[in-house]
Amino acid sequence: MAATTIRLSSYLCYLLWIVQVLSVNRDNFKTCDQSGFCKRHRNVQPGNSPYVVLADSLKITDSQISVHLLNSKTNVRLGLDLYGLQGNTARVKINELEPLKPRYEIPVGDVLIGEPKQQNLKVLDRGSGSVTLGLEKSKIVLSYSPFRVDFISGEEPLVSINSQGLLKFEHFRKKPGWVDKLTSVFSWFSQPFREAQPEEQAPAEPTEEEKKEEEGEKKEEDVKEPEQEEESGLWEETYKSFHDPKLNGPSSVGIDVSFPGFENVYGIPEHAESMALKTTKDTDPYRLFNLDVFEYELYNPMALYGSVPVMWAHNEKSTVGIYWNNAAETWIDISSTTADKNFFSKIADLVKGNTEMAQMDTHWFSESGIIDIFVMLGPRPKDVFKQYAALTGSTELPPLFAISYHQCRWNYNDQDDVRNVDANMDVYDIPFDVIWLDIEHTDGKRYFTWDAHKFPASKDMLNGLSVKGRKMVTIVDPHLKRDDNYKVYSDAKNRDMMVKGSNGVEYEGWCWPGSSSWPDFLNPEVRRWWASKFQYNEYDGSTPDLYIWNDMNEPSVFNGPEITFHKDVQHYGGFENRDVHNLYGFYVQKATAEGILMRSNNEQRPFVLTRAFFAGSQRFGAVWTGDNMGEWSHLKVSNPMLLTLNLAGITFSGADVGGFFRNPDSELQTRWYQAAAFQPFFRAHAHIDTKRREPFLLPEENMKIVRDAIRLRYSYLPFWYTLFYHGYRSGETVMSPLWVEYPEDKSTFKMDDQYLLGSSLLVKPITEQGSTGTTVYFPGNSDVWYDTETYQSYAGSQSTYVNAPLGKIPVFQRGGAIVPRKMRVRRSSSLMATDPFTLVICLNKQGEALGDLYVDDYKSYAYRNGNYIHRAFSFKNNILQSSNADPNGRGSSKEWVEKLVIVGFPKAASSVHITVAGNSQSLHHSYDSATRILTVRKPEVNIATDFTITIQ
Ligand code: GLC
Repeated sequence: MAATTIRLSSYLCYLLWIVQVLSVNRDNFKTCDQSGFCKRHRNVQPGNSPYVVLADSLKITDSQISVHLLNSKTNVRLGLDLYGLQGNTARVKINELEPLKPRYEIPVGDVLIGEPKQQNLKVLDRGSGSVTLGLEKSKIVLSYSPFRVDFISGEEPLVSINSQGLLKFEHFRKKPGWVDKLTSVFSWFSQPFREAQPEEQAPAEPTEEEKKEEEGEKKEEDVKEPEQEEESGLWEETYKSFHDPKLNGPSSVGIDVSFPGFENVYGIPEHAESMALKTTKDTDPYRLFNLDVFEYELYNPMALYGSVPVMWAHNEKSTVGIYWNNAAETWIDISSTTADKNFFSKIADLVKGNTEMAQMDTHWFSESGIIDIFVMLGPRPKDVFKQYAALTGSTELPPLFAISYHQCRWNYNDQDDVRNVDANMDVYDIPFDVIWLDIEHTDGKRYFTWDAHKFPASKDMLNGLSVKGRKMVTIVDPHLKRDDNYKVYSDAKNRDMMVKGSNGVEYEGWCWPGSSSWPDFLNPEVRRWWASKFQYNEYDGSTPDLYIWNDMNEPSVFNGPEITFHKDVQHYGGFENRDVHNLYGFYVQKATAEGILMRSNNEQRPFVLTRAFFAGSQRFGAVWTGDNMGEWSHLKVSNPMLLTLNLAGITFSGADVGGFFRNPDSELQTRWYQAAAFQPFFRAHAHIDTKRREPFLLPEENMKIVRDAIRLRYSYLPFWYTLFYHGYRSGETVMSPLWVEYPEDKSTFKMDDQYLLGSSLLVKPITEQGSTGTTVYFPGNSDVWYDTETYQSYAGSQSTYVNAPLGKIPVFQRGGAIVPRKMRVRRSSSLMATDPFTLVICLNKQGEALGDLYVDDYKSYAYRNGNYIHRAFSFKNNILQSSNADPNGRGSSKEWVEKLVIVGFPKAASSVHITVAGNSQSLHHSYDSATRILTVRKPEVNIATDFTITIQ
């Protein structure tokens, strides 16, 4: 009876969600026109900036300059701080000088991994209208009237802030009474007669009056409030039936950032969009506001589940970008134009001649917080990734199982179901590492519990998986069922840990369990409490092989405005959800990862998948692209979406294989598996109402192809793991647009249907129904590429049609790259942990190749104490050399080298021998003249050992 009631109530919740959100219902989500602050910022006209620098206030220290900005219309002053940071990076911070209350700033250590390291700024020139500073190889020019900041490298202007004059900073103010309103209306009417033109109204030198203000005698009455009556939605707004009382009044901030000399900008996930971002002249701006969007539409700027406010501009010469450090709802307009050559020739004798210079203009505005822009000046793609990783961290090295294949569905019904799926995968010889349990595994959507009828012995079930080296992931969402008998809820309630409505009462909304409340993850103490819930004695029935999936953490609130929290929900520190919205999911995943880490005494690496995310989420686990559809268009868009996530630092990302909604036919499923086998996070998932679609249920032909794709993934795990290691060390992308490796090749700048894994593999997944081939662009003038299956070679710098019937995945290895693989594929990655390596050595035109391999215990943090092996391989003059790539790696392993496959080798060898510590031994070898492959067998040398293999 109880179980039936629970099932009924879940079903009702689901119905509520469907009714709320059905048919993407664009109507559920605001357009810019329906958002007061978006409209207000979009209405700011360029070239009319009221902001001037008060030169007298300029203070210069070693790595920082501080100055006041005056809004000559309102007399409100802002403080501008400009910092030089290590690694060719600068920071521009603008805040109110004396806000009525503190404006929200993201605590250092949460998104920013620490206080960014400062770098000296050299004053190069200080005139009456500007100051020029030197930062490493770049120059920064701060112009006073109108205020703007330009970043220049050598002869190239790269980034300009406020060059369009769109700075708008809504200072905190008191709500006007009716007398103020009348005065304000009056002053508004008289304004045209009093207002000067921008140049006149902006005295760079402070007047006597301003000087007095400097001394702290500024009277509040001096501050004019022209927005009060001009603009609507300042103090309250209504959207559909939802009223948003803005207790602090208008508080938005916005400014323009231009990229002179650039035609392409990238980043700002998450949108179902092409990789190269589009201009927003005829659409809404791109929106960053974490939302649960049902059946999201493709190729539009609507917000999705996560937000990373980082953008790159790239051209043949440079890559630069910004990180907008603000967690509130944010919109970004993009337009393309031409650079203002007059200005640049004035400030630095740049941009001579008549040729037009392209420029991308972007306009950023957030509902609250401050302006805090990090400018990363590259100059190469890998430099900006490093610069960004220095700020927000890199993707943690995942445990090996996490980059293997995951089998998920909403839901595996009970323990028998889990056992059967597990057994069938073995029967059909399909490897997998993790089986997932969705919300139905719980006792009535009470997370951290098990449905006692369906999962009476979860530990036995888990142990059954563990013997095959497999793991389980269960879902733990942040909404807690309001049931005093549910101990997680009552504990949080008794400790007063829930977010509250503006009335100070525990916030209540609807989600999967019905009536729910949400812990305030913004509070570090709440996060510690949450983390403690993953201890084995707290999470009954869990074992070390159980990992976690955080969903609905935007958060999703079925009956809330835009299916999320009301904006006036109260958080820790006296802030509203309006101020912190995009961080909620970030903190849920952070706290969960800390919990998983803690339960192993900080020894084992955690794995947590999240749907909502923010800048820095890469440090806590993987991200997936949410509820996509089992349609070809969604398979296709997964590539640009994942490329964009990678560019924004979220490298460990994937899309539901097969598509979440709908029933994909077997061709689409097959192609999806083939694509995802070469994407970073590889998980099949399906909606509860879809037909069962585990890979062994496919028609035999498709099943075999899918099995091959999954097995191929396993054979490349050493390569993937090494890639993730590089990403962890350097912040580099794992799945990269071609321009990351070929920055000068213009033809790749918009290419998002093919991509690179590291610099070694080129992948062009088939994403068209019925397709039996595709045109592949092979980059690199002097490069040669080899089909990884047939070893047919293709010259670089040209496009070629390549056959790709259903069984074929177009994947190519660059000549010049050595890729480590394991060819003995087993049931799970951990069963392959001590298996030997095959080195696939594809030679370039000079007959040379380079590569590397990273090895550790694949699961713990022992590598942090030097327990790892990093080998460098080089093939030159017919000698393969394996040497230590990193003297800090002092680990050992049972793994060894069993085979070399040398592709593009010109002729048969007469002898091959291996030399280890001065002892030589000859090796078996064979040559296939049709494929030009020399195979060397059984060097049988331990992977940690230095060796050379010489071919004669
Ligand atoms: C959300 C998730 C989906 C999950 C479902 C039930 O829709 O995005 O992956 O299966 O909730 O938990």
